[in-house]
Amino acid sequence: MLGAVIRYLRCPYCGEAMARVNCSLRCGAGHNFDIARQGYVSLLPAGATGDRGDTAAMVQARAAFLAAGHFASVAAGLAQAAGEAAGSVDADGCVVDVGAGTGYYLAAVLDRLPGRDGLALDISKFALRKAARAHQRIGAVACDSWRRLPVADSAAVIALNVFAPREGAELRRILNPAGRLLVVTPASDHLSELIGPLGLLTVGQRKEERLNEKLRPYFEMAGRSEHRVTLSLGHEAVGSVVAMGPSSRHAETAAFTARIGKLPDPMPVTLAVTLSVFRPVTF
Ligand SMILES: C[S@@+](CC[C@H](N)C(=O)[O-])C[C@H]1O[C@@H](n2cnc3c(N)ncnc32)[C@H](O)[C@@H]1O
Ligand SMILES: [Zn+2]
Repeated sequence: MLGAVIRYLRCPYCGEAMARVNCSLRCGAGHNFDIARQGYVSLLPAGATGDRGDTAAMVQARAAFLAAGHFASVAAGLAQAAGEAAGSVDADGCVVDVGAGTGYYLAAVLDRLPGRDGLALDISKFALRKAARAHQRIGAVACDSWRRLPVADSAAVIALNVFAPREGAELRRILNPAGRLLVVTPASDHLSELIGPLGLLTVGQRKEERLNEKLRPYFEMAGRSEHRVTLSLGHEAVGSVVAMGPSSRHAETAAFTARIGKLPDPMPVTLAVTLSVFRPVTF
């Protein structure tokens, strides 16, 4: 529900606070943003072009894959880490998930933090339609995480970033100085059994390292753990992995279907992620 998080939002044009007026949000200077009937609001400035994030098909595949529980252990680990991190913060503030997708991980974290509201940020309206319904305490907002976020300074006690783009300066700005940033990134052997046979695109380990280096001026690492299990995935689940990832943008579905058909059903697939906890640097 958007209501509880409006106080954390800021106008993307003038930075003023927002209030609900009928079916829209309006800032003190009169900038107006319609609330979509699916419950999310777009705070993307007019004419913002470029990346639109995950497509409808990608979001559908991600929702199906996550609903089947294959990454439930990642959500559980993240929720536990968020619970521990939030336990030492008695400041007011919400949980912000930057690149929240369907809201799956934010919902798990909010279940662990009954007193906190959640803000799901994503650029994909298809993802936000799902995120808006993923939990009673989620408010879903469209924005571009490469730009200034439409979120107040120090609004978050916990910021989440799971398999999504991250920009250090803005994450630092929206995080309470006593808060924590929790980042989940794929390890080099994540889904490795599928990469070769299916010809999937991967985010190179070097690129991941460079992204973390960009956090360094704003954050210092407070903890890091690796989570590695072997999943048993049938062809349908493997199809969802392909369809929810970047490879689906670049290749024909038929080619993947043929390659998946040649794999064992089910087959063992490594789930390998790193959960990093970052503490904001005080300037
Ligand atoms: C790999 S998905 C991960 C989603 C979710 N965190 C999860 O793990 O289920 C990456 C997400 O980042 C979003 N995204 C991509 N570019 C973005 C941008 N510039 N600003 C905000 N979100 C973006 C996509 O729409 C997508 O939902
Ligand atoms: Zn404004």
